[in-house]
Amino acid sequence: MKKYDSYKAKLSKIADLEYTLAVLGWDQETYMPEKGADFRAQQISTLSGIGHEMSVEKDLGELLKKLHKSKELDKKQSRNVEESYKDYKQSKKYTTEFVELLSKTTSECFQAWQKAKQQSDFKIFAPHFTKMVKLKRQEAEMLGYKKHPYNALLDQYEPGANVADLDILFKDVREQLVGFVKKIAAAKQNSDAFAHKHYDKDKQWNFGIDLLKQMHYDFEAGRQDISIHPFTTSFSPLDVRVTTKVIENNLKSMIWSCIHEGGHGLYEQGLPASQYGLPLGEAVSLGIHESQSRLWENNVGRGLPYWKANYKKLQGYFPEQLKSVTLDQFYKGINQVKPSLIRIEADEVTYHFHILVRYEIEKALMDGSVEVKDLPAFWNEHYKKYLGVSATKDSEGVLQDIHWSHGSIGYFPTYSLGSFYAAQFFYFASKEIKGLQQHIEKGNMLPLLNWLREKIHKHGKFYSAADLCKHVTGEKLNFKYFMNYATDKYSVIYNLK
Ligand code: CO
Repeated sequence: MKKYDSYKAKLSKIADLEYTLAVLGWDQETYMPEKGADFRAQQISTLSGIGHEMSVEKDLGELLKKLHKSKELDKKQSRNVEESYKDYKQSKKYTTEFVELLSKTTSECFQAWQKAKQQSDFKIFAPHFTKMVKLKRQEAEMLGYKKHPYNALLDQYEPGANVADLDILFKDVREQLVGFVKKIAAAKQNSDAFAHKHYDKDKQWNFGIDLLKQMHYDFEAGRQDISIHPFTTSFSPLDVRVTTKVIENNLKSMIWSCIHEGGHGLYEQGLPASQYGLPLGEAVSLGIHESQSRLWENNVGRGLPYWKANYKKLQGYFPEQLKSVTLDQFYKGINQVKPSLIRIEADEVTYHFHILVRYEIEKALMDGSVEVKDLPAFWNEHYKKYLGVSATKDSEGVLQDIHWSHGSIGYFPTYSLGSFYAAQFFYFASKEIKGLQQHIEKGNMLPLLNWLREKIHKHGKFYSAADLCKHVTGEKLNFKYFMNYATDKYSVIYNLK
């Protein structure tokens, strides 16, 4: 069909531009010399502007409107058109003045945050963040929403997510997880001192590459490099980049950032290249993306079968450091559950309290029930309540994350959603793949990867997150899968009755 072909061609051109931007961004975080920063920012801004113009172009809008009514499209084609039309109408809601004001406020807010964090002084950040919150409320009005203004922002990161559903999930977190963590805290604790000995950087790197190869991350369609914050980016399903960071006295950092980003990378490599530039060639949502990284990182990579497969190899790299550490001690040491102040250092169980606090704050900021100036107190009070810890300075409390300074309000919940989806998917993978644990124990990750490819990766955006979950597991997202996973695993590790 001619109209569909010209739509496909237009989207392909927009994708060319966006993936080119991704190359520039990847280079900026990995190899770009310091002096290149200013012109690079200019280049990125110019190309972003052109990309935006192309995606709100009038011809494209008319084409989408006609295609949207067409009866000649097959299922996949209509799904592509439906998603593209939604994106198009969404982009059209932004006025140039608003985009410019938001971009200016964001860069001011980010600079203020850096300074505020350095000096651990929330007052430096507060006036700029107040402006940001005001703009975000305007944005919600501009985009439109049902029931709660926060829903408009959530929808940008996790289409379909809303306060009503998240309230139910986080109520479960509060009611079930708080008590469980208290039980763990009362039990005998395991040591992870071995992880903080000296570990040669090159050897760590090589072990990380071994792990990626074992996961079947395709090095002919990707590569790994070093960056300050590990990330995954894609230029097409045939060129997907992951990064990691290697710290000499912290073995954990490299291992689980490698596996985590590897999981993101496998998802991107598994998207259908035939749908390049189209919604069916893209990931469903941030939450589903995060489910893929966390399934590998936690459900697989922090499990006993995984280390039955890999611990000898790790000891081979580091005989001195690990010769007197048994597999059991290693497994218990890497699975400590302990309330802490910093989100990115949290274990897989207490992690969700960090998200819960941020979720409650964002919701309250958006409906006006809390003001920016009161955030440090709100923060500390809730950390005390859920985690039993309190920050002595703002840099370790309310100022720790970059997200709000970037205007990313509505992003945090996707992290918890990712873990909960991961637990639910992994439960069904274990049920449907014969002998999955035994395969993993032997280092054979292919049955799991093939299952993920077939059930999740190859569909791109054909399903919404909610529909995908139903398609894979027969029901909507349910916290009980995560709770059961955590209870089973940590009751054994901590010898709980
Ligand atoms: Co991630």
